[in-house]
Amino acid sequence: MATYFTVGPSQLYPSIKNHIQNALKDDILSISHRSKKFFDIYEEVSSQLKEFLNIPADYQILFYGSATECMERLIQNCVTKNTYHFVCGAFSKRFYNVAKDYQKDVLIQQVFIKNNEWFNFDLNFDSNKNPPEMFCVTQNETSTGVKIDLDKIYKLKQDYPQSLIAIDAVSCLPIYQIDFTKIDAVLFSVQKVFGLPAGLGVLIISPKVIQKTQKIKQSYPNYSQGTYFNFEKMTEQSQKWQTPQTPNILAIYLLNQILKDFRALGLDKIRQNIQDKAEIIYDFFDQNKFFKPLVRNLEIRSQTTICLQSPINSDLVLNYLAKNGFIVSGGYGQSQKEQVRIANFPATNYDQTKKLLSVIDSLSLNQF
Ligand SMILES: Cc1ncc(COP(=O)(O)O)c(C=O)c1O
Repeated sequence: MATYFTVGPSQLYPSIKNHIQNALKDDILSISHRSKKFFDIYEEVSSQLKEFLNIPADYQILFYGSATECMERLIQNCVTKNTYHFVCGAFSKRFYNVAKDYQKDVLIQQVFIKNNEWFNFDLNFDSNKNPPEMFCVTQNETSTGVKIDLDKIYKLKQDYPQSLIAIDAVSCLPIYQIDFTKIDAVLFSVQKVFGLPAGLGVLIISPKVIQKTQKIKQSYPNYSQGTYFNFEKMTEQSQKWQTPQTPNILAIYLLNQILKDFRALGLDKIRQNIQDKAEIIYDFFDQNKFFKPLVRNLEIRSQTTICLQSPINSDLVLNYLAKNGFIVSGGYGQSQKEQVRIANFPATNYDQTKKLLSVIDSLSLNQF
């Protein structure tokens, strides 16, 4: 069987097959989302996430269909006028596009430019204007392998206390420690670091987010914040451990199970493992004559999604690796054929990572 080093969906965490079998055995796929069995799962997953990630008790955990939907719900519920986006690749651009499509006054700041180590997080807007209602930051940009330093994000909160700070942590949570008291919303989906099948978006929101949605409702009675999926309905339901619609019960169950595994293993150990593997991967490519990390600035290099400039059409690389039992990702969008991306998630271990690198070494010898 092949090992998936793809950046998401990715290799399932080793215990997942067992958890799926148990879900079948325990009829989890047949239970009602209005049953106590489901309420217990929602309550447990919520409290586990809070303990595991150190999320304040008064934050809400909401389940949507995907991370992209979480972006859309945030814009729809909390922004009437303007947003500010730090863009370093396709997913941060997606957040920007969502706000633009909702006809917000969007400010975009390019923080990273390909092939040019320019990195700029200084704000760039007219201080006489109203501050943005929401700053949107992609903490780990899966399309380019750029990571944004959390202290820079926290500083926004200090400088603009009235604005909301939203973080897309899809391809890094729980690897970089987020101080939830310094941000207002975090979104992620489960098919990356958590090693689960795709189909669940998780949105964590602070009381300030709820206050903002209420304020909008009072001040702009004709403004639509959505219907069944607006934050008012979602939080009303989540307080009863329910969702307005029939949710992806299996995915929520699996998230609960993987959290038990991750907590038993310990977050420090998980983080150390990611750091150790990131070190051997970057060391290898920094010395490789053919493949080069796209991000040269060490401070902004992602530990979880490693993006490489490929010396040949990436299809050839992907095919060679697949023949040798390893599936990796090509570049994102227009960079598909020029780049190769490798995930460094908990589901793949140190030995598998070393084997992948030795196959890439053999590719270099065979092809160049
Ligand atoms: C950083 C980032 N944000 C958002 C998304 C979108 O996630 P989803 O497909 O769950 O909507 C992805 C998916 O790859 C991503 O990597």
